[in-house]
Amino acid sequence: MKKNMKIAVAYSGGLDTSVMIKWLMEKYDAEIITVTGNLGQTKELNGVEEKALKTGATKAFVLDTTKEFVEHYVFPALRAGALYEHVYPMATSLGRPLLAKLLVETALQENADAVAHGCTGKGNDQVRFEVSVAALAPHLRVIAPLREWEFTSREEEIAYAKKHNIPVAATVSSPYSIDENIWGTSIECGVLEDPMVEPPADAYQRTVAPEAAPDTPEYVSIEFEAGVPTAVDGRHMDSVELIHLLNEIGSAHGVGRIDLVENRLVGIKSREIYEAPAATILHFAHTELERLTLDKPTFDLKNELAQKYANLVYNGLWFSPLRNALDAFVDVTQRNVTGTVTVKLFKGAVVIAGRASERSLYSPALATYTKEDSFDHAASAGFIKIYGLPVKTYHQVNRNGVHTHIDELIKADSSE
Ligand code: ARG
Repeated sequence: MKKNMKIAVAYSGGLDTSVMIKWLMEKYDAEIITVTGNLGQTKELNGVEEKALKTGATKAFVLDTTKEFVEHYVFPALRAGALYEHVYPMATSLGRPLLAKLLVETALQENADAVAHGCTGKGNDQVRFEVSVAALAPHLRVIAPLREWEFTSREEEIAYAKKHNIPVAATVSSPYSIDENIWGTSIECGVLEDPMVEPPADAYQRTVAPEAAPDTPEYVSIEFEAGVPTAVDGRHMDSVELIHLLNEIGSAHGVGRIDLVENRLVGIKSREIYEAPAATILHFAHTELERLTLDKPTFDLKNELAQKYANLVYNGLWFSPLRNALDAFVDVTQRNVTGTVTVKLFKGAVVIAGRASERSLYSPALATYTKEDSFDHAASAGFIKIYGLPVKTYHQVNRNGVHTHIDELIKADSSE
């Protein structure tokens, strides 16, 4: 029988999106096609297609887009130095626009009338999905069942699933909400909702506890070409392989655990923990190489814009003219960010061990305190005289009547 409409659903195989298939079929009298993006998550996507079809979808697409994710979403953010609120490498935030793009592409190809996602009504992800869909296909209708449906708990959803013979995994009992891809894992809910509670050991999914990490440090060398990592320990490799390798090495040393109370776009603060070993190592190493190869004013402005870039990604504006403009700026800054950084991993920490670049702006002749020194010491006198002139003039004019800092010090001294 001909259905009322066709909906393309962003499907993970989890409880929410499984229940969504049946719910949308009933509520909208819809034919459902599902779209699942593989962004390099550790969990296998085996059986997802079968599960979607069993639940009632007429077609189920599972698309491997790990390479596209790494090269067109992760690397631009890495080159930009984008860490939300200075710490979060944004695995989830970066994945959403790509999943939205896959959903839109499939919807258009299959002539769907609408797309649907399984994001909650109080999170950032709904914003990222819907703004991305609006940017890519303004005419497409978006349905957000979690903002509409009657279920108020997981138990109710499970009951609905049972009633409709929807296969649900045994893992639905996990107290945490977990989202993951090659760039990192995001974990929230359960005891983590209390910001005073230290995350229990079982909250972490992919890293060894720092205290259980090896007692000997491990050195890792990473090569970058124009801000893009290309080799590890002298071995050139594919971008996806490189990140998998650094995830593996970092995980073993307990690197990349992040515990953050963050400001969501929808106005609330939430506490989430993250595990991002490769992202932590690569952001650290990339910045170290920039310290060596960028001139001071460029380094300064780039760091300021890194915050803008992170905010834009976090706030769902990936497909925006501002991102294009920032990418153009970042591109120019990265021309000389080529070289090698060696880091030392030890019990959860990443520290710098060495850096080198053919484009290094570090001049031994200028920096040295030996007799090889070529710095013009005498020139400093004139430089300081003129550089300090505004401050000197200000204090000369404002000495009388106004308590300057030095007056306070003198007074405090003489009253003892
Ligand atoms: N707070 C992170 C963000 O907005 C992750 C959100 C998803 N987290 C999750 N555990 N499902 O990017």
